[in-house]
Amino acid sequence: MKEPITVSITGAAGQIGYAILFRIASGFVFGEEQPVNLRLIEIEPGLPALKGVVMELEDCAFPLLNEVVATTDLDEGFKGANWAFLIGSVPRKAGMERADLLGINGKIFTGQGQAIARSASKDVRVLVVGNPCNTNALIAMNNAEGVPNDRFFAMTRLDENRAKSQLAAKAGVHNSDVTNLCIWGNHSATQYPDFTNAKIKGRPVTEVITDRDWLEGEFIKTVQQRGAAIINARGASSAASAANAAMDTVKSLINPTPEGDWYSVAVCSDGSYGIEKGLIVSMPIRTKDDGSWEVVQGVPVNDFSREKIDATVNELKEERDAVKDLIPA
Ligand code: NAI
Repeated sequence: MKEPITVSITGAAGQIGYAILFRIASGFVFGEEQPVNLRLIEIEPGLPALKGVVMELEDCAFPLLNEVVATTDLDEGFKGANWAFLIGSVPRKAGMERADLLGINGKIFTGQGQAIARSASKDVRVLVVGNPCNTNALIAMNNAEGVPNDRFFAMTRLDENRAKSQLAAKAGVHNSDVTNLCIWGNHSATQYPDFTNAKIKGRPVTEVITDRDWLEGEFIKTVQQRGAAIINARGASSAASAANAAMDTVKSLINPTPEGDWYSVAVCSDGSYGIEKGLIVSMPIRTKDDGSWEVVQGVPVNDFSREKIDATVNELKEERDAVKDLIPA
């Protein structure tokens, strides 16, 4: 039996937590020969529900689940973590300005970044799901002294999956026929699902779907507004598909990317594509055979794309400026 890996999850008693824990414990993410320790982090009010979740994990008798710890203590929660899923955050309430939300959640991610630096494993990798996820990741990264920047990710995979599904439906193909779909920028309504470089069965999407107005208009809008549409329909946010996308992200990061393809995740910008260094920005990424990741270079950016990318990156700069007090110089 392999040594267990340790996976820490914040907001473990929440909706996404409930949709992700059991699949991680079953081996879906890290493989069917990889035992896992789960360290589940909640705030005090979430503890009773978390206790119930732990009881259910026990009742699954998962062969791969080695140990479960439930805690409100960040150092105990991130102890020895190889992977940390930062899911818990405070949702936007009526009357709350975006800046208030950034500030409230920002404070959560300073403490979590510091605790990850103190207590996690040296090889820790961190996926931020809790919104506003790009800026929360920026704060965690900047407060995790000693942890390299390339270990921090924010999730835009749900947007990628949504975009692929929309294109597949329009073209009448299966979603697995859609490749090379990059979400650029922020996980917000400014994100840009780049249809100009996406492919269907290896052909440019723009050759297969010739309705340019749809691509530039309804397609982009549908992807950007999909979260709100699901809340309207379901009366609750898109937790199962978000959990699924978080697992897809980690699987993409730990397995080599098929030749010629890429996936979307927000990473610390190295200045590629003229995007300011140090921001957490979604762009085309691939995982190499040695397990490290790289920004795919040379993806064409036409005028339409440039304008969209600049708009979403500008929003990220504004978010960064709004939380500058939480980012050590
Ligand atoms: P939820 O409200 O059901 O659960 C959140 C959980 O986090 C609660 O149990 C709460 O007690 C806990 N929590 C709050 N602050 C915490 C802290 N400081 N430490 C540890 N736990 C804490 O919310 P849900 O549906 O699970 O969503 C979680 C987050 O994921 C939200 O911010 C949501 O906006 C975001 N999200 C992100 C997506 C993405 O694509 N990046 C997609 C969907 C949701």
